[in-house]
Amino acid sequence: MKNKILISAFLFIGMAVGYYYFYNTTGNVKHLDPISFSHYVHTKQHKIKCQVCHRGVETQMRAGIPNIDVCSMCHSSIIDSTSKKEFVIYSYVKDNKTIPWKALYNIPDYVYFSHRRHVKMGKLECSDCHGDMTTQTSPELQNFTPFKMQFCFDCHESRGVSTDCGNCHH
Ligand code: HEC
Ligand code: HEC
Ligand code: HEC
Ligand code: HEC
Ligand code: HEC
Repeated sequence: MKNKILISAFLFIGMAVGYYYFYNTTGNVKHLDPISFSHYVHTKQHKIKCQVCHRGVETQMRAGIPNIDVCSMCHSSIIDSTSKKEFVIYSYVKDNKTIPWKALYNIPDYVYFSHRRHVKMGKLECSDCHGDMTTQTSPELQNFTPFKMQFCFDCHESRGVSTDCGNCHH
């Protein structure tokens, strides 16, 4: 229910700014993104590591959402000529057009969160926080976890990491 409301809100905003593309031929209105990106195809079938695309995870606060500079490493030519979905990304790359992904995560500015700290220093798995992204076949919201304070707290408590307010709120 909550997701539905969220989706409706996103849909409305998307249409208002006029770039809600119906590239997804499944007729599934839940698609928020212009390209039906499949984590399953890339990470499970083709064994591409998360870090290839989310380049900031080990060194920066933000993991980063990849765009055509990253996609073009593989999609500057057609890999499978029968795939309509692949053609969409190919045409973005060919036309040097930025993909207007919708960012789903946005913890507020007053919260300090760093991927580097958790992935590099804390040695956590992506799935500890994001669930199993490798099963995700489209950018729908099935694995989407809105990060609430309690979620951070519970793990910090169970692993003996500080829960001082000032650690996460500067
Ligand atoms: C080939 C590039 C690529 C690889 C490899 C990749 N991702 Fe992504 N990821 C993307 C793109 C593009 C998006 C934005 C579109 C979307 O949401 O699916 C994204 C979005 C995400 C998001 C934001 C949530 C969401 O659904 O939009 C998370 C979390 C994520 N990826 C985690 C991972 C994890 C974990 C791995 C490794 C298991 C991984 N990604 C591997 C390209 C990639
Ligand atoms: C390291 C190589 C690599 C990178 C980087 C990469 N891809 Fe792919 N991508 C592939 C391969 C391999 C396939 C499978 C070929 C096929 O069956 O179409 C694929 C397939 C696809 C498809 C068709 C999937 C389907 O469901 O049929 C889309 C769409 C796509 N990629 C989008 C992207 C986007 C967007 C990016 C950049 C954010 C990206 N890819 C980055 C290798 C890559
Ligand atoms: C300790 C929990 C945690 C772990 C572990 C974690 N993430 Fe995240 N991730 C988050 C939070 C929290 C956000 C939202 C950050 C924000 O809004 O600033 C996020 C956001 C993202 C996003 C959205 C884009 C961005 O830059 O904010 C991607 C992509 C992502 N994570 C990928 C990954 C990948 C890949 C891994 C593993 C290598 C990983 N994450 C490990 C908690 C985690
Ligand atoms: C799955 C477990 C887990 C989750 C969920 C998690 N953390 Fe952490 N966090 C850790 C671990 C482990 C460390 C210690 C990393 C290290 O060794 O430096 C840490 C460290 C930190 C630090 C540095 C603490 C210090 O003492 O300097 C901050 C800040 C932080 N986390 C913020 C967050 C925020 C904000 C969230 C929620 C959005 C979050 N964490 C969610 C496990 C987690
Ligand atoms: C481990 C990280 C972490 C720690 C420690 C932490 N917070 Fe938060 N806090 C968050 C995150 C993430 C959010 C934003 C998500 C949300 O609203 O739940 C947040 C949001 C908040 C908000 C606004 C949310 C609301 O419900 O209005 C307040 C107020 C707040 N924190 C107070 C505190 C106080 C007081 C402490 C110390 C007892 C504390 N926080 C410790 C991560 C943390």
